[in-house]
Amino acid sequence: MPLHVLQHPLGAHVLTHLRDQTTKPALFRTLAYQISLLLALEATRDLATEEKSIETPMESMIGRVLARPLVIVPILRAGLGMVQPFQDIFPDVSVGYVGLERDHTTAIARSYYCKLPPLDGKRVLVIDPMLATGGSAVQALDVVKSAGAKELGFICIVASPEGVAALEKAHPDVPIYAGALDRELNAKKYILPGLGDFGDRLYGT
Ligand code: PRP
Ligand code: URA
Repeated sequence: MPLHVLQHPLGAHVLTHLRDQTTKPALFRTLAYQISLLLALEATRDLATEEKSIETPMESMIGRVLARPLVIVPILRAGLGMVQPFQDIFPDVSVGYVGLERDHTTAIARSYYCKLPPLDGKRVLVIDPMLATGGSAVQALDVVKSAGAKELGFICIVASPEGVAALEKAHPDVPIYAGALDRELNAKKYILPGLGDFGDRLYGT
């Protein structure tokens, strides 16, 4: 499955301000909304539509509407910063949650929460701003696949080459949509140049 890296001048502009260490949490949240909106549009280009007959004020016509509901699954907690734009543009979207937290020493993700709507027959997008080692994304996709999801995508704001490789190895059927593909991970498994700890910057912790 291909890796789709966002190619949009506004995406580059927003991401640069998001990365800037002087950006404070309020602006950080706005920028996270903006880049997530661009990624939401990119990752849903191929959603199925079906015909619908309507009457305009002028005459009858056959339009097209979305054929199937969409499900998004943010990985808590940082993934919550990407939910609102999906709800704004897809009013019928369902939201499931997977709670995962990386251990500060080992960088291995521990699961602490899971609540999912029915996933069978739905397009399911797992969302998390940072794809670092890929451990969290791989675990979250394992969980949603076990719950019946078959048509999947993974959306992140910043990806590392290591994370992309791990995700492609574990879930080769899942397309990845990223705002940027960065250089590498550091010794503590943080992305370089990256933007630091997304959850801490989003919530001012
Ligand atoms: C961050 C991020 C991802 C994960 C990525 O979350 O939001 O979920 O790390 O790292 P990985 O690819 O190496 O698994 P974190 O565990 O820090 O929790 P938080 O969202 O609660 O801040
Ligand atoms: N999680 C983050 O928030 N940032 C990173 O660089 C890696 C994991």
